[in-house]
Amino acid sequence: MHTKIYVFPGEIDSVIVKKLLQRHNSVYNRVVEPSGEMIERYKSLVREDTSLGAVKFDWRQQTVEEYFMTKDDTKFHLIHAIHVLYHVEDLHATLRNMWEQLADGGYMFVAMESEENGWAKLWHKLTETFVQGDRLKTSLRHSGDVKQCLDAMDISYVTSEYETSVNVTECVKEDSETGSLLLDFLAQTPDMYNEPEIKSLALEHIRGNCSVIDDKSLLQSIEEIIVAFKRG
Ligand SMILES: C[S@@+](CC[C@H](N)C(=O)[O-])C[C@H]1O[C@@H](n2cnc3c(N)ncnc32)[C@H](O)[C@@H]1O
Repeated sequence: MHTKIYVFPGEIDSVIVKKLLQRHNSVYNRVVEPSGEMIERYKSLVREDTSLGAVKFDWRQQTVEEYFMTKDDTKFHLIHAIHVLYHVEDLHATLRNMWEQLADGGYMFVAMESEENGWAKLWHKLTETFVQGDRLKTSLRHSGDVKQCLDAMDISYVTSEYETSVNVTECVKEDSETGSLLLDFLAQTPDMYNEPEIKSLALEHIRGNCSVIDDKSLLQSIEEIIVAFKRG
């Protein structure tokens, strides 16, 4: 059987392809990724892995918005977006388009940070203080937003959560370049050194919410996996 999957790529995505190869002889994998650097990284990852020989990759260096502008009747058995939907322009439209490209009997698989954890609470704080208007127009989104969109489209799903933590020790050190980059990432705010108010709020939140274990400062992160099955 040929299984088609569609993906926004990374290391975890190649793990999914390998799992599929345990059940199917060949896989057609369409990869949508706008960043040249990310797509090259994924290409070299899969090129070096001889176990992926039965996978036909179809590389699309595009944003999801560009990708969905082209009409295409191809249907996929699996569509997954792992920690990607923070960045798309319109969350609801993207989920609807992904669902439309799913074959009957196919699965849609989304991973996002859950709203109930130290990291996402930082986003709540930033939203309350700095976001005017619709939060969904920013990247401060979480799995609850995805579930609301699916509910609105009458799509049923199952979920599971996976708890981990982010080592934020560098963030709380003065003048750490690694810490600054990590803080930008955690607050989804590039170049935060230009945004002193955001930076001090983010640092205050991290200091107040992290736990210290063996000299490491750890911020709780809960990833939520959402899987929706499309009945025929
Ligand atoms: C956090 S990474 C996740 C990558 C991978 N799925 C993983 O889990 O390792 C987010 C990815 O979303 C991509 N991205 C950003 N904006 C996008 C858009 N509008 N459409 C599609 N992908 C986008 C970025 O280039 C980046 O590779």
